[in-house]
Amino acid sequence: MQQVDVLIIGSGIAGLTYALKTASYFPDKHIAIFTKSSENESNTKYAQGGIATVLDYENDSFENHIMDTLIAGDGHCKPDVVEMVVKEAPERLQELIDWGTRFDKNTEGIYDFGLEGGHSKHRILHFKDITGLEIEQKLLNQVKKRNNIHIHPNHLAVDLIICPDRATCKGAYVLEIATGKVQAYQAKVTMLATGGIGQVYQFTTNPLIATGDGVAMAYRAGATVENMEFIQFHPTALHDNRFAPSFLISEAVRGFGAILRNKNGIPFMEYYDDRKDLAPRDVVSRAIHTEMKITETDHVYLDVTHTDAYELRKHFPVICKTLNNIGIDPAKTWIPVSPAAHYSCGGVAVNTHGETSIKHLLACGECSSTGLHGANRLASNSLLEALVFAHRSFKKTIDLLNDPDTNRIQYSFIHTHHDTDLHHQLRTIRKEVKKLMNNCVSIVRDKESLEHSLDRLRYLQRTVEILYKNNAITLPLMEVRNIITVALIITQQSLNQNKNRGAFYCVTLN
Ligand code: FAD
Ligand code: SIN
Repeated sequence: MQQVDVLIIGSGIAGLTYALKTASYFPDKHIAIFTKSSENESNTKYAQGGIATVLDYENDSFENHIMDTLIAGDGHCKPDVVEMVVKEAPERLQELIDWGTRFDKNTEGIYDFGLEGGHSKHRILHFKDITGLEIEQKLLNQVKKRNNIHIHPNHLAVDLIICPDRATCKGAYVLEIATGKVQAYQAKVTMLATGGIGQVYQFTTNPLIATGDGVAMAYRAGATVENMEFIQFHPTALHDNRFAPSFLISEAVRGFGAILRNKNGIPFMEYYDDRKDLAPRDVVSRAIHTEMKITETDHVYLDVTHTDAYELRKHFPVICKTLNNIGIDPAKTWIPVSPAAHYSCGGVAVNTHGETSIKHLLACGECSSTGLHGANRLASNSLLEALVFAHRSFKKTIDLLNDPDTNRIQYSFIHTHHDTDLHHQLRTIRKEVKKLMNNCVSIVRDKESLEHSLDRLRYLQRTVEILYKNNAITLPLMEVRNIITVALIITQQSLNQNKNRGAFYCVTLN
């Protein structure tokens, strides 16, 4: 049994921001970050478009950003949370800038605010088309300056340690991937910052780490998990099977003027929504789904050939280079795109200070459900949510660390097992779940397919639980176990939903 003061699972924007704040306020406390891959591997690293924030008070206002978020969320956001996040945003962004993060400016030295779907104003702060990488690097640089933050790459959190009354979290069991050794880490505060769930789906923009581990662990521990039926599909992932995960063509490209065209060259968005190509993502993804069906194809096109080629390359250097590498010059050729699973609007339910329904267990970032996104997240509001809630969770941590409840309990993780090679079996199950979710629990759902998915997932879950009980704890085994748990939650919560809204659309409800 190891003891730390604060245990953080995940090293994306949420985990790192929370770690930095907590470590600088409590220089004598031991803050441990466990992260299952290299320290910078995360959804954060791949963020392209940027962070939505009102800084241009002449042309924009908090009210505009609040309204845009509420409209995109399709009546399911918590208005007080939306207002809180939007109003706290400028202060949090300034901290990020003070930690060294760069955002592009124009020739007059003013921030080059980008535009994305659902935003009524240009308000996206970005660094070229690699905003996430810039943020991740700068946060890691700061983390390394703090000698009370200990970051452990290639360590997978397996499950939470929960008191027998199931009311309090006491830390987590963690697998050191290289040795296969599982250790209990007891902590006064445990922060889940495990990011997204995209890998539950066959086609996703999310990297391999995004297997919904935090949601699955919290669910097994008895925490409230909500809104998981609202899976956001990004409309414009590059349609090219050489890329897995799918390579994203940022929504900022549409903000720059790109137009969606169907197979016959028709710019179809005007038939679906007055906001055309810059409608919120749920609307655009459903429109693409319909067009693909009508024209009997598996993709549409993004046309940016009418824009200024020099400016295009300047704004989107990595996107242009990636396309060039596969023989597409976006200045001359339409880009084949199709929707891909991108973001989980739901997750572990938290209050405005990141507290879950289990005491001393906090959650922040994409794995949490704060009420900001409602049924469909507004573009570039995710990085922002992580920053605001990391700060608020840190504030709550001040109380939690001063809480007199210091009883330390003995735990042991007993797991007898055979050393069977499960590689092939786990790969097959993982593939089946991802395909099932793509076919049955996707942009457009129906009750029959959802029920079929539920049955099959329950069967696969039973199979994997037997494997789990009898075999060594490994990363592939735990990921499959978590993917199935999350797939089941999404399917079950889809069946429970009786209203089409935002990213949830079921034909048999009509
Ligand atoms: P992540 O950044 O995903 O970090 C999760 C961390 O948890 C990782 O370090 C992971 O390894 C670790 N982890 C997971 N499970 C375990 C475990 N069991 N044990 C140990 N460690 C674990 N949002 C925006 O606002 N603007 C954008 O422009 C934007 N662009 C995007 C582009 C792409 C391609 C993608 C995929 C997402 C984009 N998003 C964007 C969404 C946004 O990037 C994410 O929602 C956000 O970065 C999530 O941050 P996070 O800290 O919650 O999780
Ligand atoms: C993008 O750049 O299109 C992604 C933005 C987001 O997910 O908010």
